[in-house]
Amino acid sequence: MTSIKLKTPASGEYEQPTGLFINNEFVKGQDGKTFEVINPTDESVICSVHEATEKDVDIAVSAARKAFEGPWRQVTPGDRGKLLFKLADLFEKNLELLAAVESLDNGKAITMAKGDVAACVGCLRYYGGWADKIEGKVVDTGSDTFNYIRKEPIGVCGQIIPWNFPLLMWSWKIGPAVACGNTVVLKTAEQTPLSALVAATLIKEAGFPPGVVNIISGFGKVAGAAISSHMDVDKIAFTGSTVVGRQIMKAAAGSNLKNVTLELGGKSPNIVFADADIDNAISWVNFGIFFNHGQCCCAGSRVYVQESIYDKFIERFKERTAKNVVGDPFDENTFQGPQVSQLQFDRIMEYIEHGKEAGAKVETGGKRKGDKGYFIEPTIFSNVTEDMKIMQEEIFGPVCSISKFKDKEEAIRLGNHATYGLAAAVHTSNLNTAIEVSNALKAGTVWVNTYNTLHHQLPFGGYQSSGIGRELGEAALENYSHTKTVSIRLGDALFG
Ligand code: NAI
Ligand code: MG
Repeated sequence: MTSIKLKTPASGEYEQPTGLFINNEFVKGQDGKTFEVINPTDESVICSVHEATEKDVDIAVSAARKAFEGPWRQVTPGDRGKLLFKLADLFEKNLELLAAVESLDNGKAITMAKGDVAACVGCLRYYGGWADKIEGKVVDTGSDTFNYIRKEPIGVCGQIIPWNFPLLMWSWKIGPAVACGNTVVLKTAEQTPLSALVAATLIKEAGFPPGVVNIISGFGKVAGAAISSHMDVDKIAFTGSTVVGRQIMKAAAGSNLKNVTLELGGKSPNIVFADADIDNAISWVNFGIFFNHGQCCCAGSRVYVQESIYDKFIERFKERTAKNVVGDPFDENTFQGPQVSQLQFDRIMEYIEHGKEAGAKVETGGKRKGDKGYFIEPTIFSNVTEDMKIMQEEIFGPVCSISKFKDKEEAIRLGNHATYGLAAAVHTSNLNTAIEVSNALKAGTVWVNTYNTLHHQLPFGGYQSSGIGRELGEAALENYSHTKTVSIRLGDALFG
């Protein structure tokens, strides 16, 4: 059996594929293994899905290779665009179902899950638009030579995605890869395989030739490692932890030196100057850290507030956070659902205990919520010093660390005091401060008077140990294309 009937409170009954999606069909794994998918809201088993091992990775990679060398090459850029448009339309048509499956499996608040699916539609459509606008260049080096530079697909792309935005990461990875003419073997995170498999049915429905997009469920150490060390995978794109990012680079180096892009974690500073509109700033700081239950690579987890408004800020921020509804992800009023897994829950609770022991002050939260499901109270720590773990390490949960700064110079110094560099924000009403601080921060994205407002037209990625390469925008096309130079001699032989 490679599908099962499931139910969500939002969608009612639906057909959940459970197989590996290879060559446009759902199949069982070669080793006959399955693994359980847990509902983070009540810790129950939702279902089991088929697990890919090395043999299945081999099969998926050869399907992708065959498609790449065969029928996919014959598809025109315009038709690749049309397929992505069709896929975007199907995501739009199935928005309610995709969002419901995402909430069931990930625990994401349903309103946020719908936002994610809408963002997938935008991203897929955007890259559909790019497919027939990927252009080369003619370069004049002298009258005896004609040079042209063309963009070519890289080939078979291995893509490994995390559990915090299962569908959105699926779209960020597949959109640009396919627009540029590559084929794909994508592995979902073992915590959240379900929505990607529902989305796989839409690949087939949209009319993609078999083998162009293959989606497999499986574990990092087995299927993930097999993809990143595979000799016939030309490129690997990964989103996840820095630890695994390093392993992927090593695997690429130790196998065929495949092209690597990494989108890793962060510990992003959210800097509030005294001249900021305080209600606005608090609203964005709240959204910056507590959106998606704090499970965001770009979460604004280090909050620096200028000393003259520090006390007032904390009081008002606490009031604002108390309004975040934590609970059942299927309740339309819920802002924050459960953390994704027992493991993540335990990691976050350990950080909270560490913060308490280190002497930071718990302003609010600091505890589990309820006794079933992986719910954690939104937690604010104040008086956090730079050396504390909760100020330096990625917690990936609803936990925010606050401290104060004196002036612009100190704000920049503290903002840059991290090994990461994914995102940052500045809240101020002074244009000069905004620009000066934005330009000085080591981060791939700096938001001013906003937070977490990503857009598919804007490149996203990290400085320092937050990663390599950029996703989204035109920049992502670079990561999925080779640049070929063709140089044609027009004159006579040069050397007799
Ligand atoms: P992880 O990095 O282990 O998992 C992400 C993906 O990598 C999953 O698909 C997993 O199966 C795969 N993977 C794991 N080991 C692999 C290996 N050796 N080779 C190839 N693929 C492998 O992240 P995890 O353990 O789920 O979360 C741990 C921490 O990582 C979080 O607390 C958070 O700090 C960070 N993280 C960052 C994310 C981001 O968006 N940048 C997303 C998820 C986690
Ligand atoms: Mg892991």
